[in-house]
Amino acid sequence: MAGNYTFTMIKPAAYEAKYTGKILDMILQQGFRIQVVKIVKLSKNQASAFYEVHKDRPFFNDLVEFMTSGPILAAVLEKANAVQDYRNLIGSTNPADAAEGTIRKMFGVSVQKNAVHGSDSDENAEKEINFFFSSIERI
Ligand code: RTP
Ligand code: MG
Repeated sequence: MAGNYTFTMIKPAAYEAKYTGKILDMILQQGFRIQVVKIVKLSKNQASAFYEVHKDRPFFNDLVEFMTSGPILAAVLEKANAVQDYRNLIGSTNPADAAEGTIRKMFGVSVQKNAVHGSDSDENAEKEINFFFSSIERI
């Protein structure tokens, strides 16, 4: 059964470009509840741990470098079928391939600077949420 939560990050380039308000508004207008938010700057160790699944990919070092280049906004989003609905809202990994009206199409500038992260399964959503937030922070 599909779960009710997913995890997102507004990545450093989109945060720096001051797209945070616009992106959160799109998320809200699409029917998600924003359960909890924090703005953090990841260390290299933290970013490497978060993206461990990609550690053997050629883009891993660049990805860690980028994700630690400035603050990110991390959030838990709540909605029925949250993971898939949010993947639909963000669009394809490469903004050039993303459908019109998606977050990555509107605010992404490259495969790396693609504005936001979204969990790809309920299992990963739970892991990613627990990486950033403790149970006491979730209201
Ligand atoms: P995300 O995890 O950020 O939501 O993105 P995704 O599922 O659509 O893509 P994934 O395959 O999980 O890749 C994670 C992030 O790594 C960067 N990437 N760079 N240079 C490249 O070829 C490349 N491929 C992926 C992207 O920032 C991607 O979001
Ligand atoms: Mg992914």
